[in-house]
Amino acid sequence: MSPPLSEKHLRVLHLEDSELDHQLMLAHLRRSGLVVDAVRVDTEADFLKCIEPEQDWDVVVSDYNLPGFSGLVALDLLKASAQMIPFILVSGEIGEDTAVEAMRNGASDYLLKNNLTRLGPALLHAVETHELLLARQRADRELGESKQRVHELAQHLQTSVELERAAIAREIHDDVGGSLTALKFDLAWIARHSDSPEVLSRVNSALETVSHAIEASQRVMHNLRPAILEQGLIAALQWMASRFEKRTGITCEFRSRHEHLSLPAGVPLVAYRTVQEALTNVSKHAQASQAHIDLSLAGGVLSLEVSDNGRGLSQEDLAKARSFGIRGLHERAGTVGGWVDLSSGPGGTTLILSVPLGSGDEVDMDPTEPGELPQDSSVPYDPTVWGAL
Ligand SMILES: Nc1ncnc2c1ncn2[C@@H]1O[C@H](COP(=O)(O)OP(=O)(O)O)[C@@H](O)[C@H]1O
Ligand SMILES: [Mg+2]
Repeated sequence: MSPPLSEKHLRVLHLEDSELDHQLMLAHLRRSGLVVDAVRVDTEADFLKCIEPEQDWDVVVSDYNLPGFSGLVALDLLKASAQMIPFILVSGEIGEDTAVEAMRNGASDYLLKNNLTRLGPALLHAVETHELLLARQRADRELGESKQRVHELAQHLQTSVELERAAIAREIHDDVGGSLTALKFDLAWIARHSDSPEVLSRVNSALETVSHAIEASQRVMHNLRPAILEQGLIAALQWMASRFEKRTGITCEFRSRHEHLSLPAGVPLVAYRTVQEALTNVSKHAQASQAHIDLSLAGGVLSLEVSDNGRGLSQEDLAKARSFGIRGLHERAGTVGGWVDLSSGPGGTTLILSVPLGSGDEVDMDPTEPGELPQDSSVPYDPTVWGAL
């Protein structure tokens, strides 16, 4: 803890041509109980030397009128030097206009020479206010830095979660998927080569179990890493819209003028996860009967809109302590230089992801030809299958 100001040695730079007035000021300050180290200067050159950064003044007390120099000029010089030192103007006869001008230019206070009893308290007040200001600036800066760190950490987490998911999905695909497929082949072989009805019945039941296990791992794998994205974002969103509609009964239409898009690495997955979360919210919270997904690319900005005709959301909804879906979307968008806007009203909720794509080195994430999705197939299309038997 630093000592209280009144006990601290205050370093005072006094701009004053009269030694007598200087002594008078010191006497006043002593009488107020202040301990000061004061230096008197009376020329512009000396003043400039004194306000160099390595000098550590607590306050400047300046006479208004000096031969060839003035308090207001000194104040300007102090401002130009970017030194933040409180400045008190003292004058024999200071007019109101001058006082106002000085305060407007950043002076902390002004005093009349014939009423210097106020000097001690004024000086303390100026130094205190200045220290508070510095402390607030420091706190603001630290808060800003800390926010930035949290922000970077959140983005880093989003990215590492995706990497981890992709790694787990790969393992499920290669190990679990591979073994289950091999098992299914073997069971099918046994079924073909056995005449025993008991064996056949056991084998069929085992085949059923294996099929279940395959489906379950495909589901898990798909949630971890949407393989459909390999067919391009548009195909993936079309597929997601139709799956959402089937699963929830909420009409979901995907609209885009584009047939295929070349997107930088990372963007398709961010877009996909954004729509996934937005649609989950529609089914969980919106009480909607319709949802729309619109994808467009205009002026180099990818824009992806998910809207519903539900009950809308409020600021309180977004401030829920344990809700991280939409917060996560903001962070996720940030990982590819984008952002998320939300709007809501009685007509429903709209969430928009915008990502400026830049014209630089884009990685072609989508195939040149969009993946063909089977239309009207009786078997639901599942892009995550490991290959039919
Ligand atoms: N489409 C929507 N319609 C109505 N309310 C919504 C919608 N999306 C989000 N909300 C509200 O905003 C809140 C925060 O959403 P979110 O951040 O995704 O967290 P969570 O879904 O885990 O609650 C939800 O709890 C819900 O009250
Ligand atoms: Mg949510």
